[in-house]
Amino acid sequence: MSTNLEHLWMPFSANRGFKSEPRLMNEAKGMYYKKLDGTKVLDGTAGLWCCNAGHGNEKIVKAIQTQATKLDFAPSFQMGHPLAFQAAEKLLSLAPSDAFQYAFFTNSGSESVDTALKIALGYQQHRGKTDKTILIGRERAYHGVGFGGISVGGLPLNKKHFSLLPSVDHICSTHNLEKNAFSKAQPEWGKELADDLLRVIEKHGADKIAAFITEPLAGSTGVLVPPKGYLERVREICTKNDILLIFDEVITGFGRLGAPFAAQYFNVEPDLITCAKGLTSGTIPMGAVLVKKEIYDAFQEGDVKAIDLFHGYTYSAHPLAAAALIATLDVYTDDNLFERTNELASYWEDALHSLKGTSHVIDIRNLGLVAGIEMSPREGSPGSRGYDVFTDGFHNHNLLLRITGDTLALSPPLIVEKDHIDQIVETLKVIIPNH
Ligand SMILES: Cc1ncc(COP(=O)(O)O)c(C=O)c1O
Repeated sequence: MSTNLEHLWMPFSANRGFKSEPRLMNEAKGMYYKKLDGTKVLDGTAGLWCCNAGHGNEKIVKAIQTQATKLDFAPSFQMGHPLAFQAAEKLLSLAPSDAFQYAFFTNSGSESVDTALKIALGYQQHRGKTDKTILIGRERAYHGVGFGGISVGGLPLNKKHFSLLPSVDHICSTHNLEKNAFSKAQPEWGKELADDLLRVIEKHGADKIAAFITEPLAGSTGVLVPPKGYLERVREICTKNDILLIFDEVITGFGRLGAPFAAQYFNVEPDLITCAKGLTSGTIPMGAVLVKKEIYDAFQEGDVKAIDLFHGYTYSAHPLAAAALIATLDVYTDDNLFERTNELASYWEDALHSLKGTSHVIDIRNLGLVAGIEMSPREGSPGSRGYDVFTDGFHNHNLLLRITGDTLALSPPLIVEKDHIDQIVETLKVIIPNH
């Protein structure tokens, strides 16, 4: 039976372009998707940065199936089910320190971001710093699509037609091709860009700023790797000025950099961590905010019968998601998947950097098992080269890529083997120059 493609309004998609030349998949196992005709497609992107354990992991599938037969749903407001609490404890066992004692569950990265921003604002109010109402983000940042997320985010097209939060400012991005093109891992130059936070602090006053949110490594906006010392400096400035630091780890969480969170990888501890995607290896929608005890405690005052945070989702800690989380984190540990990232990172780096010199490639960025390949834009049509490489990859070379403008982003499942890495790179050597 053929599928009528007309009625679905696809997210972040060129709907007309897709519908005239569809890219459909309806099976997946391990490192591969399957097209409708059964052709295997190598997953170079862990779906959408989320299937870190690979596709169809039997332990995760089984946990979801079992839970579905046991408890389909339980209300999450003023009620609970044991798995929700077990999931929180399990997640916190991966936190950067014991200071993180609470997890708030959401259903996506966007919801995690908006939740973290609300917690940050609420915290400042509860502790009597009532003027601390400004949120700071960074240019070229992606924090999902909630009104909070697009406001602190730094992507003009994502904000263009929408009203934004009023009290927001941004610091400059760390991306600089002139200084850092073809850096392997963290660039040497750019630590001082963190001092742009000081400019914003000077402008508004530290006593007016509630929090600074940043992706430790920006993924969706083209894989922007933080310069050496940058995040350490950000932490220092936030601490000195009593500003909460939020790491948006929706992409960097769960092994992408070879540690549970980027916070451990960079050895920089934020005050709040947002996550999603790899939390359930993409199997069931789920996100979370990891919260320090001190922040949670600030909300615990007054009448014990009064709600402490006026925020939440019907599906917070949904039983199927909680089961998926527990099984997924077990798989990460049992199969040593974060360690695999570390073992493969230098092979990945060398393989990707062998694309240097390929026509159109103007930068290659990498860290852990993530890489960005920036291509020069075609005169007068930025993004069209990226789109053509992406569609050619899928249709003619059975390789799933991800694009942001003219930058290819690669983030394979953490079960990737060297052969797959070779296949990705060899395919790109063929495709990129053709466009
Ligand atoms: C850093 C970051 N934050 C938030 C989000 C939004 O997540 P979601 O699409 O699950 O809402 C993303 C998605 O890619 C992301 O990369």
